[in-house]
Amino acid sequence: SLVRGIKGLDNLEKALSTYLNIKNVIIITGDIDSDPFAKEELGRVAALNLDKIIETVKTIAVTGGNTLAEFANHIVSENIQDLLILPARGGLGEKVEIQANTIAAKIADKLNASYRLLHVPDHMSKSSIEQLVNDPYIAPIINLIKQTEILIHGIGNPLEMAERRKLSLEEVDNITQYDVQGEAFGYFFNKKGDIVYSSPSIGLNINDLGKIKNVIAIAGGKSKALAIKAVTKAGFIDCLITDEGAARSILEIF
Ligand code: BG6
Repeated sequence: SLVRGIKGLDNLEKALSTYLNIKNVIIITGDIDSDPFAKEELGRVAALNLDKIIETVKTIAVTGGNTLAEFANHIVSENIQDLLILPARGGLGEKVEIQANTIAAKIADKLNASYRLLHVPDHMSKSSIEQLVNDPYIAPIINLIKQTEILIHGIGNPLEMAERRKLSLEEVDNITQYDVQGEAFGYFFNKKGDIVYSSPSIGLNINDLGKIKNVIAIAGGKSKALAIKAVTKAGFIDCLITDEGAARSILEIF
């Protein structure tokens, strides 16, 4: 549009796409850190983007987070046949409103789609994880998640995510020692895009990402610039929906 043209957002998208090596980059105007309108706009544009691809897929997995909650709010009611919405991972210890389960159910409700949820506790030991993944009720859901066609996830700042997931001091210490800069669906990445820690949970595994047709990340705000950069380096994101604040900070164009 004219406004986008004047603001140079198209050029910014091209520059960010090249810089981060992501095929598809969408940038909205403003910075969600300081502008509540931009926060809504990020959710709205991400919902519009989903609308374009929704008829072509049968499964979508989503993560939790405030950004994904905003995205779910903006999905317009529709009647989509044969669509299954899933949480990407379970038991991440978030507030109910921003849990992946809640967001998956909300999206399914809006689209008249079906959903399956992962009811698992927040803190799990290795042995209970092993038991759960073989549980006759849970195993089929995990299988569905691993075969999802689309993954839509948020990107977090590591220390905030550690706190939100109530990781112990020891775990946080471990995280900071490796200079972690970004987080996505329970995995913590350093600036090279290597995973240095993952919170114990079940569901989507980092190794499943290669099989997913379309991985869409939604994250904005200048404060997430380093996190976006770090997670992007891991190389699995096909589409990034972000804002000008994050984009300019990543590209160091102000
Ligand atoms: C979590 C997701 O629930 O939210 C992560 O599992 C993401 O993928 C995080 O990094 C982001 O949260 P927010 O609130 O900053 O959108």
